[in-house]
Amino acid sequence: MPTVTNKHILDVVGALTKEQWYLWLRYGLNNRPYETPPIVVEYPELVVLRGVYLRELAVMAQAKTFLEIGTARGYQAMSWADYLNSQRLMDGIVYTFDIDAMDKRIYKTPMTGDQVFTRSELWESEACARFICFTDRTKQSISQTIKHKIDMSYIDGQHEEAPVIEDFAEVLPFLHQDSIVVFDDCDERFSGVQKAVAAIAEKLQAPYEIVSFEPAGYKIAVMRLANCAIKANLPKRN
Ligand SMILES: C[S@@+](CC[C@H](N)C(=O)[O-])C[C@H]1O[C@@H](n2cnc3c(N)ncnc32)[C@H](O)[C@@H]1O
Repeated sequence: MPTVTNKHILDVVGALTKEQWYLWLRYGLNNRPYETPPIVVEYPELVVLRGVYLRELAVMAQAKTFLEIGTARGYQAMSWADYLNSQRLMDGIVYTFDIDAMDKRIYKTPMTGDQVFTRSELWESEACARFICFTDRTKQSISQTIKHKIDMSYIDGQHEEAPVIEDFAEVLPFLHQDSIVVFDDCDERFSGVQKAVAAIAEKLQAPYEIVSFEPAGYKIAVMRLANCAIKANLPKRN
């Protein structure tokens, strides 16, 4: 059985910058009126740190190519794109996929009241958006789109066991020996995600870390393929 290490986000993450907080407000934090607000909405001061942490992992891994499943408004895609832009990594790219198209008018932000935007409208004034390649997954598949080996991948689409396993299977051909894969919402709210991550780890013989955002009941799983037993079967980074 692969080892599972438990950590708290505050023990692994560095400082939150004003720029990252802006990205969270505009592209991450959801302020729709809810009868029961989702846990990630109740603890924004902690959940914002996921973007900071995944950006720090990108810096440590010297990552330039990213693949996200589940774009929503684009918090994670923008976080990585902002990193590529600030480091002037002009050959970097963030592929991101969603079943909601760019021109679907469904997005609000906490800073803009009741106004509803398309994703295109939200992104149009953002310089770093040029690093993002969005694909409508209902029209084009991951394998038809990706033209790079992927350094970091973030699986945050449909939060059930079979879809997570299928998403990972689609991503795997693009991964290399040093890729990092992050599974979102790998916590008690989504037992299907937990089961899928355990099954993938077992298959790859890959230890992984669970990063908790307690008191938010939100956790992510971080899997470094460099640590997996079948590493030799994966392609080298370059
Ligand atoms: C939790 S949100 C993603 C948040 C985003 N990763 C971020 O950092 O802000 C989940 C998104 O996954 C999308 N989604 C659901 N099923 C999907 C699928 N099968 N493929 C791609 N995206 C999917 C939803 O439309 C939604 O926008």
